[in-house]
Amino acid sequence: MEAAAITYPPGPRAPALVQTAMYVREPVRALERWAAEHGDLFTIKLASVGRFVFAAAPREIRQIFTADPEHVQAGRAAGQILPIVGPQSVLTLDGQPHHRHRRMMLPPFHGERMSAYAEVMRAATLRAMASWPTHAAFPLHPQLKQVAVEVLLRTVFGITSPARIAAFARRFSDLMDRWSSPLLPMLAFYGVDPIEIAPWLPVARRKRALDRALHAEIAARRGRTDPDATDIFSLLLAARDEHGEPLSPAELRDELVTLMIAGHETSAAALAWAIERILTHPEVEARLREELASITRDGVVDVTAVDKLPYLDGVVRETLRQRPILAFVARRTTVPFEIGDYRVPAGTFLCPAIHLAHRRAEAYPEPDQFRPERFVGKKLDPYAWLPFGGGGRRCLGIAFALFEIKVILATVLAGSRLRLEAGAPLPRTQLGITVAPARGTRVIASAITAAR
Ligand code: HEM
Repeated sequence: MEAAAITYPPGPRAPALVQTAMYVREPVRALERWAAEHGDLFTIKLASVGRFVFAAAPREIRQIFTADPEHVQAGRAAGQILPIVGPQSVLTLDGQPHHRHRRMMLPPFHGERMSAYAEVMRAATLRAMASWPTHAAFPLHPQLKQVAVEVLLRTVFGITSPARIAAFARRFSDLMDRWSSPLLPMLAFYGVDPIEIAPWLPVARRKRALDRALHAEIAARRGRTDPDATDIFSLLLAARDEHGEPLSPAELRDELVTLMIAGHETSAAALAWAIERILTHPEVEARLREELASITRDGVVDVTAVDKLPYLDGVVRETLRQRPILAFVARRTTVPFEIGDYRVPAGTFLCPAIHLAHRRAEAYPEPDQFRPERFVGKKLDPYAWLPFGGGGRRCLGIAFALFEIKVILATVLAGSRLRLEAGAPLPRTQLGITVAPARGTRVIASAITAAR
């Protein structure tokens, strides 16, 4: 029997270089424009990379998320971060090795464990708030990033000394500052590892410095089990696969870097958006403050109870719907693959378009309106609300991230009165692969009442 012919969903006709330039300049705008012209399923060509099929409707998103992971691979599509996180990261692995790592990493991220981290998250937020000025504008986003980094170093790495936290935070930011130029990730995407071929580059030196510190930490902690430890590093050290084998030092190194990279920019951007959305919707802020009062005693919020607040949950989910931190996720086919009424060849990128799926009026009437109540008491459709991706590659840190965002938001709201310097909704800006509010989310505090 003859195989069905290869056909791609429709797409722009401009030369690949023009499509690439449009995409690189403003990815979110470009996606919106192509969807307006070609509908919920379209193909674009990125110069020298290949064809990308974007899907915005639940039916095709479901096809991608539920496909056989041997046929539709996510690790193969994550080349741009491989030199940093390494080849043994849950982000860059596929098939059986991915499955093994994911199974060992899931238990520490289980939702029920999160309340153990509530106090660390609250205290890190209060420490940052102690430095915020009153009656003068300051960029909030970098502050939130600093909080997210400290939270990860304490909860994932289990580091408690402020000096060591500062040292690790600096090593990570030094490396990522160097990696954030568009050129290096692009080279990596094409399969060229700049760190490997140019070991004298500052980025390579910084990676070696970070790796030395991580391997020293791993060597010091391997074999030294502490049954009372709650940090994720300790739980990963104790984890065993189905053959009773632990993660090797190289695997641990890659996963620790992965959790740091995957977990701080994303959470900080989500928090910046949540605050931007709240401050531009006074009726939402009022309702949220009223709800938070129900878990506040003598001015102190019981942050272990944030998960019980349905409106706060709605605010966070509606923020991630309207302002998803990643505009899309990517998979790469290893065999010809049927999507919608089309059949694309091996080597095609398939991209559930989070940003577009969240703007479909079928799923979200008046999608441009910020309405947290959309989510209150509603069941979520995983193919229409997908800020954390989906299927067997869905974000491992979802429970951690949602809990952390709620704790930090509750702490900031209870301890301050803020307004946006701009006084109006902020435009988006692309920071690497994340989408954040523009110009650092500048705010003015009229009062900081949290313990200083
Ligand atoms: C609001 C915050 C966050 C957002 C929006 C977010 C979003 C995402 C997305 C879209 C993916 C790709 C999923 C896919 O390809 O289908 C992902 C993967 C991942 N995330 Fe998150 N993330 C967040 C926070 C975190 C945190 C706090 C951690 C850990 C501390 C984390 C760890 C991971 C890991 C390990 C993966 C790879 C999973 C795999 O490939 O099996 N993320 N995240």
